[in-house]
Amino acid sequence: NILIIHGPNLNFLGLREPEIYGSLTLRELNAIIKKYAGSKKARTRIFQSNHEGGIIDLIAKNLDWADRLIINPAAYTHYSYAIMDAIKASSLPAVEVHLTDIKKREPFRRVSVTKAACAKQISGLGPLSYVKAIDFCLNRKF
Ligand code: DQA
Repeated sequence: NILIIHGPNLNFLGLREPEIYGSLTLRELNAIIKKYAGSKKARTRIFQSNHEGGIIDLIAKNLDWADRLIINPAAYTHYSYAIMDAIKASSLPAVEVHLTDIKKREPFRRVSVTKAACAKQISGLGPLSYVKAIDFCLNRKF
């Protein structure tokens, strides 16, 4: 059971800076995720929230169900100690994902505070970042 959380502004995918994020909408991204996870017999719950506390609540509410967490904390990646603490508190094996390569963008994006709570960070592969994260969740023994 993989809990997947998209952070702030990912609801704007498709409209948002398409030269950076591409033209895929969140709906289409979620369809790719669901299809791939289904092909691997993994169950997913997928959420998007624009709120720091909302993301923390989603982790807490799905704790009994989830075995793994895939999270794109979006801009919160770079400064949310609260989300980093929530991932740690959950004890869920977690993968941090990014559509873009945050290491090759503005200096403030090169820092991830949430990464410290995750077993792996996968960045820069567009929708494939999520696909690779599913593989990591399923193949790696935690
Ligand atoms: C992002 C990268 C973040 O820096 C940015 O704030 C996002 C999306 C990505 O998926 O590439 O909203 O997490």
